[in-house]
Amino acid sequence: MMIVNTIAELQDALYKHRQAGSTIGFVPTMGNLHQGHLSLVDKAKELSDVVIVSLFVNPTQFGPNEDFDSYPRTFDADCQKLQNHDADIIFAPSVEEVYPGYPQNKAQPNLTKVHVAELGKDHCGASRPGHFDGVTTIVTKLFNMVRPDIAVFGQKDFQQLAVIRRMVQDLNIPVTIIGAPILREPNGLAMSSRNGYLSQEQKDQAAGIYRVLSWAKEQLNTHKQSFDEVEQSAVKQLEEQGFRVDYFNIANADTLQVAETSDKNIVILAAAFLGKVRLIDNVTLTL
Ligand code: PAF
Repeated sequence: MMIVNTIAELQDALYKHRQAGSTIGFVPTMGNLHQGHLSLVDKAKELSDVVIVSLFVNPTQFGPNEDFDSYPRTFDADCQKLQNHDADIIFAPSVEEVYPGYPQNKAQPNLTKVHVAELGKDHCGASRPGHFDGVTTIVTKLFNMVRPDIAVFGQKDFQQLAVIRRMVQDLNIPVTIIGAPILREPNGLAMSSRNGYLSQEQKDQAAGIYRVLSWAKEQLNTHKQSFDEVEQSAVKQLEEQGFRVDYFNIANADTLQVAETSDKNIVILAAAFLGKVRLIDNVTLTL
C-alpha cells in the first residue's frame, strides 16, 4: 500500500496503473474509518483493479459552528485498517494542497463552486447551508485528481449520494457512482464517525432513531396513517426519547421532494441531535 500526500505524487502513482489498463476504484472519506467505510473499500476492491482511498477532512463542507476543528483525525489507525482491507493507494493531502492559499483565504478558498440545485436544498441542505456545495466541490476536485472509473459512497448519506449522482450526470463526469448499503451496530445504530462522540449510554439511546424510522416504515407499508401523521408522531417519539429533532421527512426517493401518496419509491430521512452530536439515518421502501 502506498501513501501519497500531494496531487503530483498521486498522479505519478496512478500513471503505471493507467498504462497497464487497470480500472481505478475510488472511496472518498474524511478518515476516522469504521466498518461502514471499510465495506465501501471492499466494494471498490470487488469492482476495480486498483483502489484509492482519500483521507481528507474538507473544511468547506462544515458550517462556522460545526465540528471541523474537533473532527477526529486518526491517520495511523486509518492506514492500518486500509492495509488490512488491501487498499492500494491512500491519498491524504493537506488542506493547503487541496485549497492553495488556505488558511489566508479561509472564507472563500475556492472561487469556483459546484452547486446542485433542488436536490441539495431540503433536509440536511436546509439545516446546513452551503454544506452540499462544499461536498460537490471537493468531490469534483477529487474526481479530477484521481480520475476514477468507479467511486463508492455510503447510502447513510442518502441526500449526499443523490446530489453526487445528479452532479455526475449533469456535468458528464466520466465515473460510475456506486451506492453501498448502510452498516449498523447490533442495536441498529447506523455506523458513523460521529458515533465516536457518544458515550455507551448515548449509543444505546441513539439507536432510537433507527427504531423510529423502522416504525415509520411499518406504518407506511401497512397504510395505517397519513404521511403527515407518521412524521408528527415520529418527531414526538424521538423527542420523548431525548432527541432534539432537526427533521424527520418522508420524501420521494428520486426527487427528495415531499412524498405524494402516489409515489412508489420512498425514503424516510431523519436527523436529530443527542446533546451536541448530530446524527442522520434513513430507510427506503417501495409502496
Ligand atoms: O461522506 C463524506 O465523508 C464526505 O462528505 C466526502 C464525500 C468524503 C466529501 O468530503
